[in-house]
Amino acid sequence: MDHFIYKSGELCAEDVPIREIARHVGTPFYCYSTATLERHFRLFDEALEGTDHLVCYAMKAASNLAILRTLAALGAGMDVVSGGEYARARAAGVPGERIVFSGVGKTAAEMRMALEGGIRQFNVESEPEMDRLDAVARELGTKAPITVRVNPDVDAKTHAKIATGKSENKFGIPISRAREVYAHAARLEGLEVIGIDVHIGSQLTELEPFRLAYEKVRELTHQLRADGHDIRRLDLGGGLGIPYARSNAEPPLPTDYGAMIKEVLGDLGCEIEIEPGRLIAGNAGLLVSEVVYVKEGEDRSFLILDAAMNDLIRPAMYDAYHDIVPVTEAAPGTEPERYDVVGPVCESGDTFAKGRETRPLSAGDLVAFRSAGAYGAVMASEYNSRPLVPEVLVKGDQFAVIRPRPSLEEMLNRDTLPEWM
Ligand code: LLP
Repeated sequence: MDHFIYKSGELCAEDVPIREIARHVGTPFYCYSTATLERHFRLFDEALEGTDHLVCYAMKAASNLAILRTLAALGAGMDVVSGGEYARARAAGVPGERIVFSGVGKTAAEMRMALEGGIRQFNVESEPEMDRLDAVARELGTKAPITVRVNPDVDAKTHAKIATGKSENKFGIPISRAREVYAHAARLEGLEVIGIDVHIGSQLTELEPFRLAYEKVRELTHQLRADGHDIRRLDLGGGLGIPYARSNAEPPLPTDYGAMIKEVLGDLGCEIEIEPGRLIAGNAGLLVSEVVYVKEGEDRSFLILDAAMNDLIRPAMYDAYHDIVPVTEAAPGTEPERYDVVGPVCESGDTFAKGRETRPLSAGDLVAFRSAGAYGAVMASEYNSRPLVPEVLVKGDQFAVIRPRPSLEEMLNRDTLPEWM
């Protein structure tokens, strides 16, 4: 459920008409709903009620400071994967003890930054990383709390580019080698082994792959405890999917997910951590765009928008489906039309949808991409020298620009010419 609904035929973000925001900031822009962000965070938090837990928002999904602050105020932890994300978490007021550091390629500088600034744990993904972290921690005269990310070799049944839990993927250490890797970690003085981490992929629409992975984690917890490790925290990753197409079957709800976690792992006496990103931010954001032209092709009509693949890469990159809706509803009884919805970027991959049915549209009309809050703005680029689009946050009847659109001058001024020119 989200808070983007039509009121008197006009799409609104909570109590603010999208059209009004467009008048202020121009198009394209991203628009987020505070109520939706909060609701989705709470769903996870409540799903794990009764167990010691922390919901660490995977900020790679949407990392604007205003979004992070909104969630931090509810007690969210953060899952970060770079020094930049760590800095964002701290700038948003998240204490180090609520920040988890994930990722396969953490550098020594990033490790130092997190150890000095405070960290809940590192989710370590390989032995070389373990050795590097050990060295950095010892150099700083401290101990780094770690879990080891295990790769359970489970098929997440999602798009190949976002599946991470099969043995062919670069992530984690094979679960079959876990005991030997934990033994190695225990010998390193700069590390303190506290738990196990697993994350099998993103946009999962069934619980079964999670269950299979968590059952393996359960078994491993027993084995590692028998080996003498004090396993007291389980980080179960993110990945729960969202309904992109309204016609599709609904993925499981956080409540079902939470119940399954408690069922499989509840009696181990471990603190549970989860790292959802998409489900918190995805349906809390729209990308709003204006129709520049309607172009009649030989056998189809093209809706040419002012948003492009550089603003929302998901359709080009993962063949992702996003609902595209008119900001002003059609009068009742209007026959829909079919369009190929495209952007102005100079490649055919800049296609958002083919043969999409919507009300008849013309130049100047506004449309909104639904479910664009996660992996939208954060994956944008300035390809074709198109400045990054602004971000707006709505709360009730208020809205604020939380990242302004850079001027062309600002964009150009980031380049510097070498002395010899
Ligand atoms: N934890 C780890 C270690 C992750 O790698 C990810 C996502 C998450 C948590 C959050 O997963 P979520 O709950 O958002 O599914 N750009 C792609 C998605 C990439 C996901 C990467 N890792 C997309 O647009 O679909």
